[in-house]
Amino acid sequence: MKPYYLTTAIDYANGSPHLGHAYEKILADVISRTKRAMGQPTHFVTGLDEHGQKVQQGAENEGIDPQSRCDRIAEEFTNLLGELNISNDDYIRTTETRHKKVVSSLLQDLFDRGEIYQAEYSGFYSTRAEQFLQEKDKVNGEWPEIFGEVTEITEKNYFFKLGKYQQWLLQFLEENSDFILPQHRQSQVVEFLKEPLNDLCISRPKERLSWGIPLPFDQEYVTYVWFDALVNYVTAADYGKKSFSNLWPADLHVIGKDILAPPHAVYWPIMLKACNLQLPKQILAHGWWTSSGAKMSKSTGETVNPLELVNEYGTDIFRYFVMREMKVGQDAEFSLERFESRYRADLGNDLGNLVSRLLHMCTNYFEGIVPEASTIEEPEDILMKKWQDTKRLSLEFFTRFQFSQGLEEVSGFIRSINKYADERVPWKLAKSADLKDQQNLKTCLSTMVEALRLANVLLVAVMPEVHEKISERLAIPVSKNWQTDLDWDNRLEGKQLKEKIILFPRK
Ligand code: MSP
Repeated sequence: MKPYYLTTAIDYANGSPHLGHAYEKILADVISRTKRAMGQPTHFVTGLDEHGQKVQQGAENEGIDPQSRCDRIAEEFTNLLGELNISNDDYIRTTETRHKKVVSSLLQDLFDRGEIYQAEYSGFYSTRAEQFLQEKDKVNGEWPEIFGEVTEITEKNYFFKLGKYQQWLLQFLEENSDFILPQHRQSQVVEFLKEPLNDLCISRPKERLSWGIPLPFDQEYVTYVWFDALVNYVTAADYGKKSFSNLWPADLHVIGKDILAPPHAVYWPIMLKACNLQLPKQILAHGWWTSSGAKMSKSTGETVNPLELVNEYGTDIFRYFVMREMKVGQDAEFSLERFESRYRADLGNDLGNLVSRLLHMCTNYFEGIVPEASTIEEPEDILMKKWQDTKRLSLEFFTRFQFSQGLEEVSGFIRSINKYADERVPWKLAKSADLKDQQNLKTCLSTMVEALRLANVLLVAVMPEVHEKISERLAIPVSKNWQTDLDWDNRLEGKQLKEKIILFPRK
Protein backbone atom coordinates (compact mmCIF):
# COMPACT_ATOMS: atom_id res chain seq x y z
CA MET A 1 0.00 0.00 0.00
CA LYS A 2 1.37 3.45 -0.90
CA PRO A 3 1.92 5.31 2.34
CA TYR A 4 0.06 8.55 2.95
CA TYR A 5 2.85 11.01 2.23
CA LEU A 6 2.54 14.23 4.17
CA THR A 7 4.89 17.15 4.62
CA THR A 8 5.14 20.41 6.53
CA ALA A 9 6.72 23.63 5.35
CA ILE A 10 10.45 23.58 5.89
CA ASP A 11 11.35 26.25 8.43
CA TYR A 12 13.73 29.09 7.67
CA ALA A 13 17.09 28.63 9.33
CA ASN A 14 17.25 32.24 10.42
CA GLY A 15 16.11 32.15 14.02
CA SER A 16 14.84 30.01 16.84
CA PRO A 17 11.60 28.05 16.55
CA HIS A 18 8.49 29.61 18.04
CA LEU A 19 4.89 28.60 18.65
CA GLY A 20 3.96 28.93 14.93
CA HIS A 21 6.61 26.42 13.88
CA ALA A 22 5.74 24.09 16.73
CA TYR A 23 2.03 24.18 15.92
CA GLU A 24 2.50 23.17 12.31
CA LYS A 25 4.62 20.18 13.26
CA ILE A 26 2.08 19.07 15.85
CA LEU A 27 -0.80 19.47 13.39
CA ALA A 28 1.00 17.32 10.81
CA ASP A 29 1.94 14.82 13.49
CA VAL A 30 -1.65 14.52 14.66
CA ILE A 31 -2.78 13.98 11.08
CA SER A 32 -0.11 11.33 10.65
CA ARG A 33 -1.03 9.50 13.86
CA THR A 34 -4.73 9.71 12.99
CA LYS A 35 -4.13 8.19 9.56
CA ARG A 36 -2.11 5.39 11.12
CA ALA A 37 -4.81 4.71 13.68
CA MET A 38 -7.28 4.51 10.80
CA GLY A 39 -5.14 1.82 9.22
CA GLN A 40 -3.18 3.83 6.67
CA PRO A 41 0.63 3.79 6.85
CA THR A 42 2.19 7.25 6.57
CA HIS A 43 5.43 8.85 5.52
CA PHE A 44 5.84 12.13 7.29
CA VAL A 45 8.55 14.62 6.36
CA THR A 46 9.58 17.95 7.81
CA GLY A 47 12.80 19.91 7.52
CA LEU A 48 14.81 23.10 7.28
CA ASP A 49 15.16 25.72 4.55
CA GLU A 50 18.78 26.75 4.82
CA HIS A 51 19.73 28.99 1.91
CA GLY A 52 19.19 32.66 1.28
CA GLN A 53 20.09 36.19 2.07
CA LYS A 54 19.03 36.28 5.69
CA VAL A 55 20.89 33.09 6.55
CA GLN A 56 24.03 34.39 4.87
CA GLN A 57 23.65 37.76 6.58
CA GLY A 58 23.07 36.18 9.98
CA ALA A 59 26.22 34.12 9.67
CA GLU A 60 28.24 37.15 8.58
CA ASN A 61 26.98 39.09 11.59
CA GLU A 62 28.12 36.31 13.87
CA GLY A 63 31.42 35.95 12.04
CA ILE A 64 30.85 32.27 11.26
CA ASP A 65 30.24 30.36 8.05
CA PRO A 66 26.61 29.86 7.02
CA GLN A 67 26.79 26.07 7.21
CA SER A 68 27.88 26.12 10.86
CA ARG A 69 25.06 28.49 11.66
CA CYS A 70 22.57 26.25 9.86
CA ASP A 71 23.90 23.22 11.74
CA ARG A 72 23.32 24.96 15.05
CA ILE A 73 19.80 26.05 14.11
CA ALA A 74 19.02 22.59 12.72
CA GLU A 75 19.91 21.18 16.12
CA GLU A 76 17.52 23.59 17.81
CA PHE A 77 14.67 22.66 15.47
CA THR A 78 15.26 18.91 15.63
CA ASN A 79 15.57 19.08 19.39
CA LEU A 80 12.15 20.72 19.46
CA LEU A 81 10.71 17.90 17.33
CA GLY A 82 11.91 15.45 19.97
CA GLU A 83 10.41 17.51 22.78
CA LEU A 84 7.08 17.69 20.97
CA ASN A 85 7.06 13.94 20.30
CA ILE A 86 6.80 14.41 16.54
CA SER A 87 6.81 11.10 14.67
CA ASN A 88 8.41 12.25 11.42
CA ASP A 89 10.09 9.64 9.22
CA ASP A 90 12.57 12.01 7.61
CA TYR A 91 14.12 15.42 8.19
CA ILE A 92 15.28 17.18 5.07
CA ARG A 93 17.80 20.01 5.00
CA THR A 94 18.21 21.95 1.77
CA THR A 95 22.01 22.00 2.09
CA GLU A 96 22.13 18.20 1.83
CA THR A 97 23.68 16.74 -1.31
CA ARG A 98 20.55 14.70 -2.07
CA HIS A 99 18.59 17.92 -2.34
CA LYS A 100 21.11 19.99 -4.29
CA LYS A 101 21.32 17.20 -6.88
CA VAL A 102 17.55 17.16 -7.39
CA VAL A 103 17.30 20.96 -7.67
CA SER A 104 20.09 20.96 -10.26
CA SER A 105 18.59 18.18 -12.26
CA LEU A 106 15.12 19.75 -12.38
CA LEU A 107 16.52 23.16 -13.31
CA GLN A 108 18.64 21.68 -16.08
CA ASP A 109 15.71 19.75 -17.44
CA LEU A 110 13.47 22.84 -17.50
CA PHE A 111 16.24 24.93 -19.06
CA ASP A 112 16.84 22.31 -21.77
CA ARG A 113 13.17 22.33 -22.61
CA GLY A 114 12.98 26.11 -22.84
CA GLU A 115 10.90 26.59 -19.69
CA ILE A 116 13.59 28.79 -18.17
CA TYR A 117 15.08 31.76 -20.01
CA GLN A 118 17.38 34.70 -19.28
CA ALA A 119 16.14 38.28 -19.35
CA GLU A 120 16.81 41.70 -17.98
CA TYR A 121 15.15 42.51 -14.73
CA SER A 122 14.77 45.92 -13.32
CA GLY A 123 13.43 46.89 -9.99
CA PHE A 124 14.01 48.92 -6.86
CA TYR A 125 16.84 47.50 -4.83
CA SER A 126 17.60 48.23 -1.21
CA THR A 127 21.29 47.82 -0.45
CA ARG A 128 20.65 47.78 3.26
CA ALA A 129 18.04 45.02 3.09
CA GLU A 130 19.85 43.47 0.12
CA GLN A 131 16.61 42.75 -1.68
CA PHE A 132 14.34 44.01 -4.42
CA LEU A 133 11.38 45.92 -3.07
CA GLN A 134 7.85 46.05 -4.30
CA GLU A 135 5.36 48.88 -4.54
CA LYS A 136 3.56 47.43 -1.52
CA ASP A 137 6.67 48.03 0.61
CA LYS A 138 6.13 51.77 0.28
CA VAL A 139 4.57 53.69 3.14
CA ASN A 140 2.66 56.82 2.09
CA GLY A 141 4.31 56.59 -1.30
CA GLU A 142 7.86 56.58 0.14
CA TRP A 143 10.40 53.85 0.83
CA PRO A 144 10.61 53.59 4.62
CA GLU A 145 13.84 54.41 6.48
CA ILE A 146 14.61 50.75 7.23
CA PHE A 147 15.50 50.12 3.58
CA GLY A 148 18.23 52.77 3.50
CA GLU A 149 19.16 53.91 0.02
CA VAL A 150 16.85 52.48 -2.66
CA THR A 151 17.98 52.57 -6.28
CA GLU A 152 16.47 51.32 -9.48
CA ILE A 153 18.76 48.73 -10.97
CA THR A 154 18.68 46.49 -13.99
CA GLU A 155 20.33 43.11 -14.02
CA LYS A 156 20.17 39.87 -15.93
CA ASN A 157 18.38 37.00 -14.28
CA TYR A 158 16.72 33.72 -15.11
CA PHE A 159 12.97 33.37 -15.34
CA PHE A 160 10.60 30.43 -15.23
CA LYS A 161 7.66 30.54 -17.63
CA LEU A 162 4.92 30.69 -15.07
CA GLY A 163 2.50 32.77 -17.11
CA LYS A 164 1.92 30.25 -19.83
CA TYR A 165 0.36 27.83 -17.32
CA GLN A 166 -2.13 30.27 -15.84
CA GLN A 167 -5.18 28.98 -17.73
CA TRP A 168 -4.21 25.39 -17.11
CA LEU A 169 -3.99 26.04 -13.35
CA LEU A 170 -7.34 27.79 -13.28
CA GLN A 171 -8.94 24.86 -15.00
CA PHE A 172 -7.21 22.42 -12.68
CA LEU A 173 -8.59 24.28 -9.65
CA GLU A 174 -12.04 24.30 -11.15
CA GLU A 175 -11.93 20.55 -11.64
CA ASN A 176 -10.41 19.85 -8.23
CA SER A 177 -12.45 21.92 -5.85
CA ASP A 178 -10.95 20.36 -2.72
CA PHE A 179 -7.31 20.79 -3.74
CA ILE A 180 -6.88 23.48 -1.11
CA LEU A 181 -8.34 23.33 2.37
CA PRO A 182 -10.10 25.18 3.89
CA GLN A 183 -12.19 25.75 0.81
CA HIS A 184 -12.38 29.53 1.08
CA ARG A 185 -8.63 29.61 0.51
CA GLN A 186 -9.07 27.91 -2.84
CA SER A 187 -11.44 30.70 -3.88
CA GLN A 188 -8.77 33.24 -2.89
CA VAL A 189 -6.27 31.48 -5.14
CA VAL A 190 -8.73 31.54 -8.02
CA GLU A 191 -9.21 35.28 -7.42
CA PHE A 192 -5.44 35.75 -7.39
CA LEU A 193 -5.22 34.00 -10.74
CA LYS A 194 -7.62 36.43 -12.35
CA GLU A 195 -4.78 38.96 -12.52
CA PRO A 196 -2.11 38.31 -15.17
CA LEU A 197 0.63 36.04 -13.86
CA ASN A 198 4.21 37.23 -14.41
CA ASP A 199 7.02 34.80 -15.06
CA LEU A 200 8.99 33.96 -11.94
CA CYS A 201 12.49 35.25 -11.35
CA ILE A 202 14.37 32.24 -10.01
CA SER A 203 17.95 33.45 -9.73
CA ARG A 204 20.26 35.89 -8.01
CA PRO A 205 23.75 36.76 -9.22
CA LYS A 206 26.41 35.11 -7.09
CA GLU A 207 28.08 38.39 -6.18
CA ARG A 208 24.93 39.37 -4.29
CA LEU A 209 23.93 36.00 -2.91
CA SER A 210 26.47 33.24 -2.64
CA TRP A 211 24.64 31.03 -0.13
CA GLY A 212 22.47 29.08 -2.52
CA ILE A 213 22.41 26.27 -5.06
CA PRO A 214 24.25 27.26 -8.28
CA LEU A 215 22.28 27.12 -11.51
CA PRO A 216 23.67 24.11 -13.38
CA PHE A 217 23.64 26.02 -16.69
CA ASP A 218 25.20 29.25 -15.35
CA GLN A 219 27.55 29.04 -12.38
CA GLU A 220 27.47 32.82 -11.93
CA TYR A 221 23.99 32.52 -10.45
CA VAL A 222 22.31 30.68 -7.59
CA THR A 223 18.67 29.73 -7.51
CA TYR A 224 16.52 31.91 -5.35
CA VAL A 225 14.01 30.92 -2.63
CA TRP A 226 11.15 28.86 -4.05
CA PHE A 227 12.91 26.80 -6.70
CA ASP A 228 15.11 25.57 -3.91
CA ALA A 229 12.64 25.28 -1.02
CA LEU A 230 9.60 23.73 -2.72
CA VAL A 231 11.64 21.06 -4.43
CA ASN A 232 12.36 19.54 -1.00
CA TYR A 233 9.05 17.72 -1.25
CA VAL A 234 10.19 15.65 -4.22
CA THR A 235 13.75 15.27 -2.94
CA ALA A 236 12.41 13.68 0.22
CA ALA A 237 10.34 11.32 -1.92
CA ASP A 238 13.53 10.11 -3.63
CA TYR A 239 13.06 11.91 -6.93
CA GLY A 240 15.23 10.32 -9.60
CA LYS A 241 15.18 6.92 -7.93
CA LYS A 242 12.97 3.93 -8.59
CA SER A 243 11.36 4.30 -5.18
CA PHE A 244 9.97 7.76 -6.12
CA SER A 245 6.64 6.35 -7.25
CA ASN A 246 6.21 4.66 -3.85
CA LEU A 247 5.69 8.08 -2.32
CA TRP A 248 4.92 10.63 -5.00
CA PRO A 249 2.46 12.30 -5.45
CA ALA A 250 2.31 13.67 -1.93
CA ASP A 251 -1.05 13.30 -0.27
CA LEU A 252 -0.87 16.45 1.79
CA HIS A 253 1.26 19.57 2.22
CA VAL A 254 0.59 21.23 5.57
CA ILE A 255 1.57 24.91 5.47
CA GLY A 256 0.66 28.31 6.89
CA LYS A 257 -1.64 30.66 4.99
CA ASP A 258 1.20 33.13 4.35
CA ILE A 259 2.92 30.74 1.96
CA LEU A 260 -0.16 29.45 0.18
CA ALA A 261 -0.59 31.91 -2.66
CA PRO A 262 1.44 32.19 -4.70
CA PRO A 263 4.18 29.75 -3.58
CA HIS A 264 2.34 26.50 -2.81
CA ALA A 265 -0.86 27.06 -4.74
CA VAL A 266 0.61 28.65 -7.89
CA TYR A 267 4.38 28.18 -8.27
CA TRP A 268 4.50 24.62 -7.03
CA PRO A 269 1.68 23.12 -9.15
CA ILE A 270 3.10 24.89 -12.21
CA MET A 271 6.65 23.76 -11.49
CA LEU A 272 5.44 20.18 -11.21
CA LYS A 273 3.35 20.43 -14.34
CA ALA A 274 6.30 21.84 -16.28
CA CYS A 275 8.45 18.97 -14.99
CA ASN A 276 5.77 16.44 -16.01
CA LEU A 277 5.30 15.38 -12.43
CA GLN A 278 2.02 14.69 -10.69
CA LEU A 279 0.53 17.31 -8.39
CA PRO A 280 0.09 16.76 -4.66
CA LYS A 281 -3.42 15.65 -3.76
CA GLN A 282 -4.15 18.35 -1.20
CA ILE A 283 -2.79 21.42 0.51
CA LEU A 284 -3.93 22.33 4.00
CA ALA A 285 -3.36 25.97 4.92
CA HIS A 286 -3.55 26.71 8.63
CA GLY A 287 -3.88 30.13 10.21
CA TRP A 288 -1.54 32.14 12.40
CA TRP A 289 -0.86 32.21 16.07
CA THR A 290 -1.08 35.85 16.91
CA SER A 291 0.23 37.87 19.78
CA SER A 292 -1.62 41.11 20.54
CA GLY A 293 -3.45 40.56 17.26
CA ALA A 294 -0.33 40.40 15.05
CA LYS A 295 1.25 37.32 13.47
CA MET A 296 3.77 35.84 15.83
CA SER A 297 7.12 36.01 14.11
CA LYS A 298 10.77 36.62 14.72
CA SER A 299 10.52 40.14 13.35
CA THR A 300 7.70 41.26 15.67
CA GLY A 301 9.72 39.99 18.60
CA GLU A 302 6.67 38.83 20.56
CA THR A 303 7.08 35.10 20.30
CA VAL A 304 6.18 32.23 22.59
CA ASN A 305 8.93 29.74 23.19
CA PRO A 306 7.22 26.34 23.02
CA LEU A 307 9.96 24.72 25.06
CA GLU A 308 9.14 26.81 28.12
CA LEU A 309 5.52 25.63 28.10
CA VAL A 310 6.54 22.05 27.36
CA ASN A 311 8.99 22.09 30.25
CA GLU A 312 6.48 23.54 32.67
CA TYR A 313 3.36 21.57 31.69
CA GLY A 314 4.49 18.61 29.62
CA THR A 315 4.46 17.75 25.92
CA ASP A 316 0.93 16.41 25.69
CA ILE A 317 -0.61 19.35 27.48
CA PHE A 318 1.01 21.67 24.95
CA ARG A 319 -0.10 19.46 22.06
CA TYR A 320 -3.65 19.36 23.40
CA PHE A 321 -3.77 23.10 23.88
CA VAL A 322 -2.68 24.02 20.35
CA MET A 323 -4.91 21.44 18.71
CA ARG A 324 -7.95 22.32 20.81
CA GLU A 325 -7.49 26.06 20.76
CA MET A 326 -6.86 26.68 17.07
CA LYS A 327 -9.55 25.82 14.55
CA VAL A 328 -7.52 24.67 11.55
CA GLY A 329 -7.55 27.45 8.99
CA GLN A 330 -8.41 30.26 11.40
CA ASP A 331 -6.08 32.45 13.47
CA ALA A 332 -5.80 32.07 17.23
CA GLU A 333 -4.51 34.50 19.79
CA PHE A 334 -2.12 32.95 22.26
CA SER A 335 -2.66 33.71 25.91
CA LEU A 336 -1.30 32.08 29.00
CA GLU A 337 -4.71 32.44 30.68
CA ARG A 338 -6.33 30.34 27.93
CA PHE A 339 -3.57 27.81 28.28
CA GLU A 340 -4.02 27.54 32.02
CA SER A 341 -7.77 27.41 31.75
CA ARG A 342 -7.66 24.50 29.26
CA TYR A 343 -5.26 22.76 31.58
CA ARG A 344 -7.47 23.22 34.61
CA ALA A 345 -10.86 22.66 33.00
CA ASP A 346 -10.62 20.19 30.10
CA LEU A 347 -7.69 18.24 31.42
CA GLY A 348 -7.60 18.57 35.21
CA ASN A 349 -11.28 18.79 36.13
CA ASP A 350 -12.75 16.64 33.38
CA LEU A 351 -10.29 13.97 32.26
CA GLY A 352 -7.91 13.94 35.23
CA ASN A 353 -10.70 13.74 37.81
CA LEU A 354 -12.50 11.03 35.92
CA VAL A 355 -9.40 8.85 35.78
CA SER A 356 -8.45 9.30 39.41
CA ARG A 357 -11.89 8.93 40.96
CA LEU A 358 -12.83 5.98 38.77
CA LEU A 359 -9.65 4.05 39.51
CA HIS A 360 -9.96 4.93 43.17
CA MET A 361 -13.50 3.50 43.34
CA CYS A 362 -12.56 0.37 41.41
CA THR A 363 -9.68 -0.26 43.82
CA ASN A 364 -11.77 0.46 46.91
CA TYR A 365 -14.95 -1.40 46.03
CA PHE A 366 -13.70 -4.26 43.82
CA GLU A 367 -9.98 -4.55 44.50
CA GLY A 368 -9.35 -3.16 41.05
CA ILE A 369 -11.26 -5.88 39.18
CA VAL A 370 -13.69 -4.41 36.64
CA PRO A 371 -17.20 -5.62 37.58
CA GLU A 372 -19.86 -6.75 35.15
CA ALA A 373 -22.52 -4.42 33.80
CA SER A 374 -25.67 -6.45 34.34
CA THR A 375 -28.43 -3.90 34.79
CA ILE A 376 -28.51 -1.62 31.80
CA GLU A 377 -31.03 1.17 32.39
CA GLU A 378 -31.74 4.60 31.01
CA PRO A 379 -28.58 6.40 32.23
CA GLU A 380 -26.38 3.72 30.63
CA ASP A 381 -28.39 3.86 27.43
CA ILE A 382 -27.99 7.61 27.27
CA LEU A 383 -24.22 7.37 27.73
CA MET A 384 -23.90 4.63 25.12
CA LYS A 385 -25.93 6.69 22.69
CA LYS A 386 -23.73 9.68 23.45
CA TRP A 387 -20.71 7.52 22.64
CA GLN A 388 -22.14 6.57 19.25
CA ASP A 389 -22.61 10.27 18.41
CA THR A 390 -19.16 11.20 19.72
CA LYS A 391 -17.51 8.47 17.73
CA ARG A 392 -19.27 9.38 14.51
CA LEU A 393 -18.81 13.13 14.82
CA SER A 394 -15.23 13.12 16.06
CA LEU A 395 -14.12 10.75 13.30
CA GLU A 396 -15.83 12.96 10.76
CA PHE A 397 -14.06 16.02 12.14
CA PHE A 398 -10.69 14.27 12.37
CA THR A 399 -10.97 13.07 8.77
CA ARG A 400 -11.54 16.67 7.67
CA PHE A 401 -8.56 17.81 9.80
CA GLN A 402 -10.91 19.72 12.11
CA PHE A 403 -9.21 18.61 15.26
CA SER A 404 -10.45 21.36 17.54
CA GLN A 405 -14.06 20.44 16.78
CA GLY A 406 -13.25 16.72 17.08
CA LEU A 407 -11.63 17.24 20.47
CA GLU A 408 -14.61 19.28 21.58
CA GLU A 409 -16.76 16.20 20.96
CA VAL A 410 -14.37 14.02 22.96
CA SER A 411 -14.32 16.54 25.81
CA GLY A 412 -18.11 16.65 25.74
CA PHE A 413 -18.19 12.88 26.06
CA ILE A 414 -15.77 12.93 29.00
CA ARG A 415 -18.03 15.46 30.71
CA SER A 416 -20.98 13.14 30.04
CA ILE A 417 -19.17 10.32 31.82
CA ASN A 418 -18.70 12.55 34.85
CA LYS A 419 -22.32 13.63 34.64
CA TYR A 420 -23.38 10.00 34.48
CA ALA A 421 -21.38 9.32 37.65
CA ASP A 422 -22.98 12.28 39.40
CA GLU A 423 -26.38 10.87 38.49
CA ARG A 424 -25.64 7.27 39.46
CA VAL A 425 -23.70 8.35 42.59
CA PRO A 426 -21.65 5.16 42.90
CA TRP A 427 -20.05 6.43 46.15
CA LYS A 428 -23.53 6.35 47.71
CA LEU A 429 -24.48 3.03 46.15
CA ALA A 430 -21.30 1.56 47.67
CA LYS A 431 -22.64 2.31 51.14
CA SER A 432 -25.94 0.53 50.56
CA ALA A 433 -26.50 -3.12 51.43
CA ASP A 434 -29.42 -3.33 49.00
CA LEU A 435 -28.86 -5.96 46.27
CA LYS A 436 -30.17 -3.72 43.50
CA ASP A 437 -27.86 -0.90 44.59
CA GLN A 438 -24.93 -3.30 44.57
CA GLN A 439 -25.82 -4.39 41.04
CA ASN A 440 -26.17 -0.78 39.94
CA LEU A 441 -22.79 0.00 41.44
CA LYS A 442 -21.20 -2.73 39.38
CA THR A 443 -22.94 -1.57 36.24
CA CYS A 444 -21.96 2.00 36.90
CA LEU A 445 -18.23 1.37 37.35
CA SER A 446 -18.12 -1.07 34.47
CA THR A 447 -19.86 1.47 32.24
CA MET A 448 -17.49 4.24 33.29
CA VAL A 449 -14.43 2.08 32.66
CA GLU A 450 -15.63 1.23 29.18
CA ALA A 451 -16.49 4.85 28.42
CA LEU A 452 -13.08 6.01 29.63
CA ARG A 453 -11.35 3.34 27.56
CA LEU A 454 -13.15 4.56 24.45
CA ALA A 455 -12.56 8.28 25.07
CA ASN A 456 -8.90 7.48 25.63
CA VAL A 457 -8.64 5.76 22.25
CA LEU A 458 -9.75 8.97 20.54
CA LEU A 459 -7.02 10.90 22.36
CA VAL A 460 -4.13 8.79 21.12
CA ALA A 461 -3.12 11.03 18.21
CA VAL A 462 -3.18 14.27 20.16
CA MET A 463 -1.87 13.08 23.52
CA PRO A 464 0.08 9.87 22.89
CA GLU A 465 1.77 9.88 26.31
CA VAL A 466 -1.38 10.56 28.29
CA HIS A 467 -3.07 7.86 26.23
CA GLU A 468 -0.30 5.46 27.17
CA LYS A 469 -0.51 6.32 30.86
CA ILE A 470 -4.27 5.76 30.94
CA SER A 471 -3.92 2.53 28.95
CA GLU A 472 -1.30 1.34 31.38
CA ARG A 473 -3.67 2.00 34.31
CA LEU A 474 -6.41 0.13 32.46
CA ALA A 475 -3.91 -2.68 31.81
CA ILE A 476 -4.42 -2.63 28.05
CA PRO A 477 -1.95 -2.03 25.24
CA VAL A 478 -1.88 1.37 23.55
CA SER A 479 -4.40 1.63 20.74
CA LYS A 480 -2.97 1.12 17.29
CA ASN A 481 -6.14 0.45 15.39
CA TRP A 482 -9.38 2.40 15.57
CA GLN A 483 -11.16 -0.19 13.48
CA THR A 484 -11.07 -2.62 16.40
CA ASP A 485 -10.90 -0.30 19.42
CA LEU A 486 -13.86 2.02 19.10
CA ASP A 487 -16.74 -0.38 19.72
CA TRP A 488 -18.52 -0.42 23.05
CA ASP A 489 -17.84 -4.04 24.01
CA ASN A 490 -17.06 -4.00 27.76
CA ARG A 491 -13.81 -5.77 27.01
CA LEU A 492 -12.32 -4.88 30.37
CA GLU A 493 -14.86 -6.76 32.51
CA GLY A 494 -13.07 -9.10 34.86
CA LYS A 495 -9.71 -7.43 34.22
CA GLN A 496 -7.44 -6.14 36.95
CA LEU A 497 -6.85 -2.37 36.84
CA LYS A 498 -3.99 -0.49 38.43
CA GLU A 499 -4.26 2.08 41.19
CA LYS A 500 -5.22 5.68 40.66
CA ILE A 501 -2.94 8.23 39.08
CA ILE A 502 -2.86 12.03 39.11
CA LEU A 503 -2.43 12.98 35.47
CA PHE A 504 -2.68 16.74 35.69
CA PRO A 505 -1.54 18.01 39.08
CA ARG A 506 -2.86 21.39 40.20
CA LYS A 507 -0.42 24.20 39.43
N1 MSP B 1 10.95 28.43 4.53
C1 MSP B 1 9.63 28.83 4.21
C2 MSP B 1 8.76 27.66 3.81
C3 MSP B 1 9.27 26.85 2.66
S1 MSP B 1 8.23 25.48 2.35
C4 MSP B 1 8.76 24.82 0.95
C5 MSP B 1 8.99 29.50 5.43
N2 MSP B 1 9.60 29.31 6.62
S2 MSP B 1 9.10 29.95 8.01
O1 MSP B 1 10.03 29.50 9.02
O2 MSP B 1 8.92 31.35 7.87
O3 MSP B 1 7.70 29.34 8.29
C6 MSP B 1 7.55 27.94 8.39
C7 MSP B 1 6.09 27.59 8.61
O4 MSP B 1 5.70 28.11 9.89
C8 MSP B 1 5.16 28.21 7.57
O5 MSP B 1 4.18 27.30 7.14
C9 MSP B 1 4.54 29.36 8.31
O6 MSP B 1 3.24 29.67 7.88
C10 MSP B 1 4.50 28.81 9.73
N3 MSP B 1 4.42 29.91 10.68
C11 MSP B 1 5.36 30.85 10.96
N4 MSP B 1 4.83 31.74 11.83
C12 MSP B 1 3.54 31.38 12.13
C13 MSP B 1 2.61 31.78 13.11
N5 MSP B 1 2.75 32.85 13.84
N6 MSP B 1 1.52 31.00 13.28
C14 MSP B 1 1.35 29.79 12.63
N7 MSP B 1 2.23 29.40 11.72
C15 MSP B 1 3.16 30.32 11.22
O7 MSP B 1 7.97 30.13 5.27
